[in-house]
Amino acid sequence: MRLVLVGPPGAGKGTQAEFIAAHLALPKISTGDIFRANVAAGTPLGVEAKRYMDGGQLVPDEVTINMVRDRLADPDAADGFLLDGFPRTVPQASALDKLLADLGVGLDLVLELVVDDDEVIRRLSGRRTCRGCGKVWHIDFDAPTHEGVCDRCGNELYQRDDDKAETVSERLRVYARDTAPLVDFYGAQGKLVGIDATGPVEDVTVRAIDALRSYGG
Ligand code: AP5
Repeated sequence: MRLVLVGPPGAGKGTQAEFIAAHLALPKISTGDIFRANVAAGTPLGVEAKRYMDGGQLVPDEVTINMVRDRLADPDAADGFLLDGFPRTVPQASALDKLLADLGVGLDLVLELVVDDDEVIRRLSGRRTCRGCGKVWHIDFDAPTHEGVCDRCGNELYQRDDDKAETVSERLRVYARDTAPLVDFYGAQGKLVGIDATGPVEDVTVRAIDALRSYGG
């Protein structure tokens, strides 16, 4: 299957992508994770991306599309993938359609995680990420046993720079302006299915898997 997860910042895309990708044995491809890995490694791509990420802005389409094109050319993505955080503009979505059409394939489904802004703010203000393995925690909803320490690998947890309150507001504005139009874009293609992404993580996963199943996943 070739799937896309779309939803506002903090909707739980990364959290659900882990479970869905494991369930369907698909590689999870997160553009946010790829950018953050490049920032951490200090690559030229990371230096450029950081300028936008820190302010809650999107990295320019051309840079992002080229990066995804390279990633989708990796052998593990040949038979399917789960995209988390891409596309997030209409030009990115059009570029993805073209890229896949050139390969003689297409997207199967776009799963939209629906949550309101208040929930986004609650989730992002309490999110903590592991410096070692990248696992995402939440100080209230999914707290590690010892504050600030990852249960999975023992490394330190940190708060993402772009999870500060003023940056979150900007990310929400950018989402409404640039990414929300994808709902109509994919709706018109008959590929969009929206699910309620509130409530416990496991409940959202069940809704997501049910939605995929009813569309043949
Ligand atoms: P990216 O990393 O993609 O950020 P995002 O879309 O803003 O999404 P987040 O990672 O913030 O949230 P999420 O939906 O994955 O939620 P999570 O599962 O962590 O992108 C970062 C930046 O990179 C962008 O701003 C941009 O600059 C750049 N970028 C990336 N892709 C780009 C692109 N295509 N084009 C241009 N620029 C791009 O969950 C959040 C928290 O909530 C966690 O603490 C989690 O534990 C908790 N949680 C999850 N589910 C639940 C639940 N059901 N109940 C309670 N808590 C929950």
